[in-house]
Amino acid sequence: MPAKDLDQIVNLCKRRGFVYPSAEIYGGFRSSYDYGPLGSLMLRNVKDAWVRAMVQQRDDVVLIDAAILSPPQIFEASGHLSNFSDPLVDCTVCKRRFREDQLDNRDCPQSNKGCAFTAARAFNLMFQTQAGPVEGEGAKVYLRPETAQGMFVNFANVLQTSRKKPPFGIAQLGKAFRNEITPGNFIFRTREFELMELEFFVHPSESTKWYEYWCQTRMQWYVDYGIPAAMLRIREHAKDELSHYSSGTSDIEFMFPWGWGELEGIAQRTDFDLKQHTEHSRQKLEYFDQATNERYVPYVVEPAAGANRTMAAFLLAAYDEDVINDEPRTVLRLHPRLAPYQVAVLPLSKKDTLMPLAKRIHAMLSANYMCDFDETQAIGRRYRRQDEIGTPFCVTIDFDSLEDDAVTIRERDTTKQTRVPISSLVGELAGRLGF
Ligand code: GAP
Repeated sequence: MPAKDLDQIVNLCKRRGFVYPSAEIYGGFRSSYDYGPLGSLMLRNVKDAWVRAMVQQRDDVVLIDAAILSPPQIFEASGHLSNFSDPLVDCTVCKRRFREDQLDNRDCPQSNKGCAFTAARAFNLMFQTQAGPVEGEGAKVYLRPETAQGMFVNFANVLQTSRKKPPFGIAQLGKAFRNEITPGNFIFRTREFELMELEFFVHPSESTKWYEYWCQTRMQWYVDYGIPAAMLRIREHAKDELSHYSSGTSDIEFMFPWGWGELEGIAQRTDFDLKQHTEHSRQKLEYFDQATNERYVPYVVEPAAGANRTMAAFLLAAYDEDVINDEPRTVLRLHPRLAPYQVAVLPLSKKDTLMPLAKRIHAMLSANYMCDFDETQAIGRRYRRQDEIGTPFCVTIDFDSLEDDAVTIRERDTTKQTRVPISSLVGELAGRLGF
């Protein structure tokens, strides 16, 4: 049974070291979060799973890593300076600010009835700063609000150096920054977050086909990594919801405890960005197909997902409570590739006699997997801790191990225990983990 309440996950994340409020010792920095020892491993696993599916297991996508600090010219061309804004209203009673499109009705969520809002004005979401020691217009730079522009401005570089031709994609993941008016819902909406984006360049006549392909392929990715299909849906944007660059967008949405929320948008960006950058930079961004003698500006289909939101969805979907031997337990039934640790090595006793063997097994398994080592507390409590952080398998070393060269594998989901020879442990775990 997935988590019904966001607090179940927020508490687990804090208690077990997944996610902490940022700058907590100074009272916290509103709506910012730091990823702890387990959260940083899991977030990395989410991103690795994305790279695996989008780059590693394909022959038509390459990965880049472009700069975060960007000159204004990029966002003049992309339209973000004039269009990347949310409608901001002020409540004249409580003086708080809201996104007009997120208000359920015309009542302020703080002051309730009797409030009055100012007229909406466009609030640009980009963070602006300056580069170098001299202030002024020439020093103005922006933190990127999406990674996409780094891929468009490198289109010609990648085309020349990668031997790819449409249909092909450029993928990128990394931090993006948006001065959100109303961040909230834990790591769902923050001002600093990580994007996982693909710009897939195709012949204009094939854009619809690839749009449908990416909607279906991306939906399957979430299912493959453990989200029940019933907790996902695809929703097409109405015309008035579309971003300034999109001719059609569908969102993959997840059933969060507060309702359906976006995990990923798949947009038909047409030739908008390449044409805008061609016009502003005076550099031609097009493709010449030698086979057909055709010169064209490719259309772009863009699946863009948020890594942090996706991690929250995986945690919520994996959360479960059950009863084992009359004892309630919390268990994260995470996909093994997403779990912070794939294996935990647990010597039954802290006694020196077991340590050398336990350390040797930890070193052996760490060559292939992220492997925890825990010699504290009673074994039952250690199993519970590993269940709660989602570790699929524990390997227990006991005094018999010194005699029979065997250890016990304990499964997270069933709690079933099996004795296996140490010589076949790596193969056994690989078979069960599936990698
Ligand atoms: N290049 C297209 C683009 O950025 P988007 O729909 O604005 O599209 C893509 O963002 C994804 O990034 C969203 O589906 C969401 O998962 C994530 N995202 C957007 N804003 C976010 C925020 N403030 N905090 C966390 N994740 C966010």
